[in-house]
Amino acid sequence: MFSIQSGRVNNRSLQLRPLTIEDLEQVLPIEQRCFGGYWSQSIFETELKTKGCYYVMLQDLHNPKNILAYGGFWQIFEEAHLTTLAVDPQCQGIGLGALLLGHLMTMAQNQEAHWMTLEVRPSNQQAIKLYQRYGFAELGRRKGYYPDNEDALLFWYQNLHLAEAENCLKEHHDQCLAKLRAQGIELSLKNVAYLTQGELS
Ligand SMILES: CC(C)(COP(=O)(O)OP(=O)(O)OC[C@H]1O[C@@H](n2cnc3c(N)ncnc32)[C@H](O)[C@@H]1OP(=O)(O)O)[C@@H](O)C(=O)NCCC(=O)NCCS
Repeated sequence: MFSIQSGRVNNRSLQLRPLTIEDLEQVLPIEQRCFGGYWSQSIFETELKTKGCYYVMLQDLHNPKNILAYGGFWQIFEEAHLTTLAVDPQCQGIGLGALLLGHLMTMAQNQEAHWMTLEVRPSNQQAIKLYQRYGFAELGRRKGYYPDNEDALLFWYQNLHLAEAENCLKEHHDQCLAKLRAQGIELSLKNVAYLTQGELS
């Protein structure tokens, strides 16, 4: 089991790979803990089968049943819309969310997105800090967007297609890997760069 005890990560190898329907058994409890079960099995299944939807996850390389984080986006012409991003609460705060977000942005870049948008709760300061750290800016507010009536802040990352963004993402990626390595975590990437979920099989 990948676990963190006294700030130290015990297991050392993580794999980043596309999310599949077989992974949902492990993903749904994280969804429950992070968002209270906002997305059901059938919502995930629809997302995973839909063209233009891209989902990836981080798992313990030596224990594939142990999924630590997942996220994804829709690609709609020049826009990539981040639909979800979640790190198992046991593993938050060590750099996995930053790593995953950077990778999703790179995937969107590879799909020729010009910008990325997302909604976030104003109360979710942890997520807002992460997005701002990557250079996302607030674009507007959707009133009463969430089921409990909290507003959503609409954030966007402009000019994702420019070389400047590419350099920035490379820099962030190196920093993320260095931060994880300092905690004894190595990363392996598998089939994630260009594939859509439908192309996996
Ligand atoms: C938001 C979330 C994805 C961030 O992932 P994470 O792995 O915990 O974050 P990281 O360790 O990669 O930290 C990235 C940045 O986030 C911010 N951050 C992380 N933990 C934080 C905390 N406890 N308090 C404040 N800021 C924090 C920091 O800016 C940090 O950058 P730094 O490393 O330079 O300090 C994760 O906490 C999560 O899954 N939350 C629940 C689900 C959710 O809210 N998803 C986003 C929906 S919009």
